[in-house]
Amino acid sequence: MRDSVRLAHRVRLTVAVVAGVLLCGANAPQAQTVHPALWPAVHPQPLVDSATEARIAALVQRLSVEEKVGQIIQTDISAVTPADLRRYPLGSILAGGDSGPHDNERAKPADWLALAREFHAVALEARPGHEPIPVIFGIDAVHGHNNIVGAELYPHNIGLGASHDPDLVRRIAQATAEEVATTGMDYAFAPTIAVPQDMRWGRSYEGFSSDPQWVAQFASAAVLGLQGPNGMEHRLARGHVAASIKHFIGDGGTTLGEDQGNTQVSEETLVRLHAPGYAAGIEAGALTVMASYSAWNGQKMHGAKGLLTDVLKGRMGFQGFVIGDYNAHAFLPGCTKSHCPEAFNAGVDMYMAPLGWRDLYTNLIADVKAGVIAMTRLDDAVTRILRVKFALGMFDTERPLEGRFEHLGSVEHRALAREAVRKSLVLLKNDGVLPIRPNATVIVTGPQAGSLAVQAGGWTLSWQGDDVRSADFPQAELAATALKAAIRAGGGRLLAEDADLSKDKPDVAVVIMGARPYAEMYGDIKLPIYNERTGLLALQHFKEFGIPTVAIFLSGRPLWTNPEINASNAFVAAWLPGSEGGGIADVLVAAANGTARYDFTGRLSFAWPRSALLPPYAPQGAIQFPIGFGISYDHPVRTPVLSERLDGAADAAPPVRIK
Ligand code: BGC
Ligand code: BGC
Repeated sequence: MRDSVRLAHRVRLTVAVVAGVLLCGANAPQAQTVHPALWPAVHPQPLVDSATEARIAALVQRLSVEEKVGQIIQTDISAVTPADLRRYPLGSILAGGDSGPHDNERAKPADWLALAREFHAVALEARPGHEPIPVIFGIDAVHGHNNIVGAELYPHNIGLGASHDPDLVRRIAQATAEEVATTGMDYAFAPTIAVPQDMRWGRSYEGFSSDPQWVAQFASAAVLGLQGPNGMEHRLARGHVAASIKHFIGDGGTTLGEDQGNTQVSEETLVRLHAPGYAAGIEAGALTVMASYSAWNGQKMHGAKGLLTDVLKGRMGFQGFVIGDYNAHAFLPGCTKSHCPEAFNAGVDMYMAPLGWRDLYTNLIADVKAGVIAMTRLDDAVTRILRVKFALGMFDTERPLEGRFEHLGSVEHRALAREAVRKSLVLLKNDGVLPIRPNATVIVTGPQAGSLAVQAGGWTLSWQGDDVRSADFPQAELAATALKAAIRAGGGRLLAEDADLSKDKPDVAVVIMGARPYAEMYGDIKLPIYNERTGLLALQHFKEFGIPTVAIFLSGRPLWTNPEINASNAFVAAWLPGSEGGGIADVLVAAANGTARYDFTGRLSFAWPRSALLPPYAPQGAIQFPIGFGISYDHPVRTPVLSERLDGAADAAPPVRIK
């Protein structure tokens, strides 16, 4: 992360903290009343057997207050050394989006493993007055083991949602867990089971669908893939890791899609729209739940005892631990990064505390001694954390996948990711130009044709994913490269991007366009418009020469693209496909006999906007293509000229140009 961006981010944090403090003095948001009986009752299988429960109880008895408090803190590898664990017996560490071993985000897999092993070794050391307890190491493996050079990059969840194939999601989660296990980690902060209701939210692409029932199916599939089935023993040894269903609850429902914003809905709506994924994920045995930065009707989720304790742990039967989000406790009224008993008493079991964690440790010990935190509450949290560690098999020493780096971006994982890319593509328009005949003359171009960063999206190598280079993922294939290879293999001819079109006309031009990568905080937008002009200009340029065009649109959300759709002969929503651009060529370029090798099976899992001003999710919003829409070769559809008016109205008046 560039320093200026990091600084801007920190400034925002500070402003938010100050605002929080002021708000607290003025009119502190009221705790929301909840009615647990309105929520789904879940009765998951116990996470560990009764003999293990007894072992955990005995272990908790032997721990000092200091050791117990250590268990409930997770800090970032950029802020702690393995040796620190001798003085501070922390229960967990994480690698945040921008962290890497020795501050190197491009560290080799072996360096990640060496670091994990150093932490594990100190935690398990035999020392007087110390109970050896493994330290659980978490990382944002949200579309593959995406922080690690050379890992396989799967489509982000929005693309997987379009596949409508939960079993594909299960297989991807399992393959991801395997890659995580090779580098010595035990815990993925995934899946995101947000149900994004407003695509202006910059994290929309982390969600599978705006439809809660689809999200529930994917939640269960992803948990099973990451963790293995309920009750499985020696999970780590078998290449599984802990999952974290996040962010509880209502992260996708904030007003105007504001990141970390306020979800202003009734309790019934919270239950109907945002809870089904949690019920399904808990039923599938999710070991952890991450609390959301967002608020529900003004109350920050990290302080929402009714939801975290009465609903999640009570009514919904959740037996694992609640992890806080990155420094999120600091935003509760009256809290700071290093002091916030409120979050813990509300039900957060483990603080994600990249900043100020040493003082947090000291303050928590004082809170317990002063009775601000009851010993029963502390024991409950520690029991939950140990339960997860036992359920994972962390007390077994065997970790056969460690160091098996051949799994990173392996042939099998590449094939799986390529299958996922094929299944995620949604064809929004095709007047017959697709599939491309393999012996055609083709230009492959477009403003984003050369960018793996755009193809992979945020949460790739770094937090925002904006500094990815092709060399970081040597196995990765750009869609442009794959398309060219398929044309060449079929005996077709490729023209240079700057070919003189008045002399040599291709049969078709493929224009690859997309948005710069972004992640949380930086991805929010005001209007859902695709406003990078270069793609449209390229399409119009070819049109002037009478050359048919195919637009490949790489994006983290549906955007108002009617001008681009009108200017192209075929338009493919390809989302953020990751490292296997070959999946795009598989579907777009025909076999030697001219018939398609694969049909389009992807269907929208979010509505596509007809208007930039009245997006589908706004009241009386305008929908161009509904959820479930997608053309296939088998069922061609003629797309009329679409309205280019920003308000989406029929074209009685001349289109509003946004040049
Ligand atoms: C995000 C989480 C993520 C965590 C750790 C937070 O800012 O909201 O989704 O797991 O950081 O990187
Ligand atoms: C970290 C991310 C984290 C974000 C939250 C970044 O500096 O690298 O992991 O999610 O801050 O604010």
